[in-house]
Parts: sequence; C-alpha cells; structure tokens
Amino acid sequence: MQHALRAAGVGCWDLDLATGSLWRSPEYDRIWGTTRTDATMPLNALFAGIIPEDREAVTQAFELASSQGVIAVEKRIQRVDDNSIRWIRLTGQGYYHAEKLAGIAGVVADVTPEHLACEKLRHTEKMESLGYMAREVAHDFNNLLMVIGASLEMLSDQIEGDRANRLVSAMNNGVERGVALTQNLMDFSRPAGAEIKVVNIDRLIASAWLDLIRIAGDTVVVTITPGPLAWCYCADPDQLTKAMTNLAENAREAMPDGGHLVVSTTARHVDGAGAASFGVRTGDYVGISFSDNGIGIARDLIARVFEPLFSTKQDKKGRGFGLSQVYAAASSSGGFVTIESQPEQGATVVIYLPLASSPASH
Ligand SMILES: Nc1ncnc2c1ncn2[C@@H]1O[C@H](COP(=O)(O)OP(=O)(O)O)[C@@H](O)[C@H]1O
Ligand SMILES: [Mg+2]
Repeated sequence: MQHALRAAGVGCWDLDLATGSLWRSPEYDRIWGTTRTDATMPLNALFAGIIPEDREAVTQAFELASSQGVIAVEKRIQRVDDNSIRWIRLTGQGYYHAEKLAGIAGVVADVTPEHLACEKLRHTEKMESLGYMAREVAHDFNNLLMVIGASLEMLSDQIEGDRANRLVSAMNNGVERGVALTQNLMDFSRPAGAEIKVVNIDRLIASAWLDLIRIAGDTVVVTITPGPLAWCYCADPDQLTKAMTNLAENAREAMPDGGHLVVSTTARHVDGAGAASFGVRTGDYVGISFSDNGIGIARDLIARVFEPLFSTKQDKKGRGFGLSQVYAAASSSGGFVTIESQPEQGATVVIYLPLASSPASH
C-alpha cells in the first residue's frame, strides 16, 4: 500500500486528537520538503509550513474537523528545502473509539500542476468575458462621444465670451479623455479574426529599441539580446510594438531608483495541457521577454494585473491599460503572455507568439 501511495505521490497522516500529535508517512515529508527525524510531530508544525495568507483557513479546517470528523482543504505551503510555493490537497476522515472522535487520518498530495492549469483556464475565460464587455461599452461610449464632440464644435462657433469658451474647452478636454479611454478599451478588446501577418521578431525589436531605451529612462540600463532569426505570426505589428513600449514603461516605473531591463527572445514548445490552459494551439512559440529587477508584484495580485483598469499606481493618469493591451496584442495573434514575479526581486513578462516557419512559405 505504501509503495502504491508513494508511486502516486500521496502522503499519509494521522492526527491523534487527544495529544495533538501528527504521525506522517515519508512521502508526506517529501511533499513538504522536510528532513525526517521523527515520524510524529505536533500539529502546529503542519500549520507552520502553510504560507501566512492561507494559514488561518487551514487552522479553521482542522478545528472544524476536530468536531465534525472530516477535512478537505486545498491551500499553499512553502517547501522547506527549496522555498518553493506548492498547492497541496489535504483530505481526511475521523475515526472513533468508544463512540468518541479519537483522531483524523488522511492523505496529502501536491496538486500544483492541476491547480495552475485550472487557474489559467479560469483566467482565460475571465479575460474573454471582460474583452466582450469592454468591446460593447467602448463602441457605444465612442458613439456618444462623437455626438458630444460634434455638438461642441458647432456650439463653439456660436458662443462668445471668455467664460463660455472656457466651459466649452473644458468639455472638449473631457471628450478627448473619453476618446483616449475608449481607445484603450478597444486596444484590449480587438475582435479576433484580423488578418495575421508573418513578422520577424528581431527586426521588430531592433526597430523599437531606441524607443524602448528612451521609455526605460536614464537610470535604467537596457540590454537587448537578439535571439536566432525568428519569424512569427502577428495580427498587428503596431500593437506588438505598443505592447513592448508598455512593458518598458512598467519596468521603468518598477525601478524608480534605476535598475536593469533585459529584453530577449526565447523559444517554447506548448503541449496539450499548456495549450488548454493558455487557450492557444499546441506547437512552437517565440517569446519576447522583458525582465527587470524592480519592486516586483505581490503574489496575490499577479492574477489581476492583465485586467483593464487594474493598477497599483495611485498617482498615474490613464492607469491600468498597459498589460491589458499586452494581453490583447498576444491573444489576437494566437499567442499568450506569462508573468513571473517575486516582491522586491523584479518581474519577467513574456509575450509568446506562434512560430512561423519562414516568410517565403506564407
Ligand atoms: N514590471 C513590473 N514590475 C512590478 N509591477 C508591475 C510590472 N508590470 C506591471 N506591474 C503591476 O501591474 C499593474 C498593471 O500594469 P499596467 O496594466 O501596465 O497598468 P499601470 O502601469 O498603468 O498601473 C501595475 O499597476 C503594477 O502593479
Ligand atoms: Mg503600465
């Protein structure tokens, strides 16, 4: 039985409710990344391995299990050996002595890959519905702005006096800001089905690099590492260039005291599981990677940064549209975007586009 559980990567545990002592199998320790000195430990040692954000929920689940006799919880631990964050599923069932709940025995499994795949799928679906809503709102809102703008133009020919002119000019400013906002929403929600071109990634980066260096600012050192000549599918090269400038801007803002931005290209093969979770086809992709050593992103915010209007920058005008545009530029070309970050350690955003064999064959 132990061999079978080990082969399945499942650990066993048994909590004695009278003493609070937790017995666990060797596989349990492998999942936690702990060195095994004793087969039993206090229950608190289990809680200590759960990341702080999830600890309360796991403690509560055990408290409830002590009276109800069942536990099923899926939360994050920080492994002791390599400090990595992993999702674990803990399930258990109570057992009774003399009709009294004496303990809870159960299993634990590392479910990180399943969890991440589900999370990505949910994210893809959420972005799709946000895109649909943004497209509808932007379209109707834009029509209204056109009517207001045209009426203001006619009005400005008919009015006289400083005060009236100032009011019309303030209204015009409002219309212009509204148009910029709808443009941002449209960049995010461009409908699929645009004509897809084959572009050379390195040439595109080369033609943008002066802009990227300017946007990154004087205190950020930009290193551009050209990769092997790679062709990829792209719906709109201008949107891709804009996406790169948005990433350079974010890198500058993440490194107010200066730092290093590395722009490079990478290759990645996406298999069936990856394709399902990213909402793309299986196959080879070319990545344009932007890696900085700035302030990084808090773990719980990473899932939200691609949403339009999501921003942690309070004092910035027109905020929260950079990464949503990056997301749209990639997905309208059949690609996807990944982001990896640790607070205070920097962030790496990669735009992946489907690899094309050569321009001549298209
Ligand atoms: N390179 C980065 N380093 C740290 N945080 C980042 C980085 N890029 C994006 N972010 C986070 O993602 C959020 C959304 O980014 P974005 O859509 O470009 O909007 P904005 O830059 O206007 O806030 C930012 O407010 C910031 O919290
Ligand atoms: Mg931005």
